[in-house]
Amino acid sequence: MRLGVFDSGVGGLSVLKSLLQAKLFKEYIYYGDTARVPYGVKDKDTIVKFSLEALDFFKEKKVDMLIIACNTVSAYALEILKANAPFPVFGVIKAGVLAVKNSLKNKKSKILVIATKATVDSHAYKQALLKEGFLWVEEKATGLFVPMVEEGIFEGPFLNSAFEYYFNNLEFKPDALILACTHFPLISNALQQHFGKQTKLIHSGEAITLQLQKEFYLSQIQENVNVEFYASSDVENLKKIAKLWL
Ligand code: DGL
Repeated sequence: MRLGVFDSGVGGLSVLKSLLQAKLFKEYIYYGDTARVPYGVKDKDTIVKFSLEALDFFKEKKVDMLIIACNTVSAYALEILKANAPFPVFGVIKAGVLAVKNSLKNKKSKILVIATKATVDSHAYKQALLKEGFLWVEEKATGLFVPMVEEGIFEGPFLNSAFEYYFNNLEFKPDALILACTHFPLISNALQQHFGKQTKLIHSGEAITLQLQKEFYLSQIQENVNVEFYASSDVENLKKIAKLWL
């Protein structure tokens, strides 16, 4: 089976990593729209337009299934992508919400969603979590983490001051922290340290892998897997980052 993985840029490699670790597919086609990243500060029409263009790419590559690693695209364009694709398309939001549901039994648990501005403005996570009966959901746009991760800053004083900037006036301790942006799993150690062990971190890459495994009864394949990388700009840089992150 040939799996497509789409992201606005390099961040989706964090999702690809989980998919590769699970060894569920033989072929992977990763496409990052590196020429136009970030999507998280753009409006809905632009995000939808760019996503449909990416879909044409995956149609040409004849993938069997497409994973939308990008939370921002999952929030705004999933339905239109599904309607226009000749193969199944999955976003990361439903998977993330399912993961929360499986790990928090108390509906009064406090949930914090951190994401790009666009994902937060869509309230896609909040609506889905409220629908599941959760009563306490806060969303916070933490877009500065995106360029920091792209710079390779995964820990240290600069990141800690961004934590202070975003979280200092947070009035509660989250029981769950949803890493609702492709880049955030790369700073999960630092986030875990900041919030403490009691806060459960939810990683969309792990969540979507689990969802696929369950929904399609997929088991580990034994053969070698093949991954192809494509980008709308500077594919060599994408490959370089893939070597570091994967
Ligand atoms: N991939 C995006 C997401 O998960 C983050 C980077 C961007 O803003 O494009 O929302």
